[in-house]
Amino acid sequence: MKQDNLFSVEKETVADFSFDEAVADVFPDMLRRSIPGYENIIAMLGVLARCHVQDNTRVYDLGCSLGAATLSVHRQTRELSLQHICVDNSAAMIKRCASTLKRHMPAASVELICDDIQRIPIKNASVVLLNFTLQFLPKTTRLVLLKNIYKGLNSGGVLILSEKLLYDDAEVNQLFIQWHHEFKRANGYSDLEISQKRAAIENVLIPDTLNTHQTRLTEAGFSHVHQWFQAFNFSSLIAVKA
Ligand SMILES: C[S@@+](CC[C@H](N)C(=O)[O-])C[C@H]1O[C@@H](n2cnc3c(N)ncnc32)[C@H](O)[C@@H]1O
Repeated sequence: MKQDNLFSVEKETVADFSFDEAVADVFPDMLRRSIPGYENIIAMLGVLARCHVQDNTRVYDLGCSLGAATLSVHRQTRELSLQHICVDNSAAMIKRCASTLKRHMPAASVELICDDIQRIPIKNASVVLLNFTLQFLPKTTRLVLLKNIYKGLNSGGVLILSEKLLYDDAEVNQLFIQWHHEFKRANGYSDLEISQKRAAIENVLIPDTLNTHQTRLTEAGFSHVHQWFQAFNFSSLIAVKA
């Protein structure tokens, strides 16, 4: 695993974060050292998917990056006849995802799509994964996407949504940010790396509160919405279509 040191040298101006070649190259290390509980969430996505997946249906991984979530689902469901649809609008991510999935799940049915997840028709789905992706969409279009996912899910199907959270109370929000930064420090990131990464991502990753997510999922049509994971300000929800 290549080490992420993209923000280790002081930059004159910090450009907005993008999922380009340089990021894709170090992404597994960046995710593991930046998202508290990332490896746990990935492993549990497979476990949760196994509980809700339906044979002869589709599993969508929206914002798939390198395919870690799809791989986890496949590891728990390989005896079923599933079609995996992996979507990302970063060509650098999709290219690497293709070779990883070909290597680790060569016999599975996998369709890789390099496009905006907002343009993807969802059909015959039993599991849809949005693992740390919704937060990169404009706030105004998030509900439209969730409604589209709800429409394309079969009855009994689930959406699993993982996100960085915002807190309404500024002091509480600051406390969670402090804990998160301490987590990054414990994983070897310097203060310079933490502050430059923060500057790069703050206009790109726009978090919502837990309450906003729950309300929006309900408005999209989901009858059961449960928070199943949280580590500091990183959380995952499961929403079931009745
Ligand atoms: C934090 S990463 C997701 C991590 C990945 N789901 C995992 O579990 O390892 C966010 C991904 O979403 C993709 N993305 C962001 N906005 C997108 C959009 N509108 N359409 C498609 N992909 C998008 C980015 O290119 C990036 O690969």
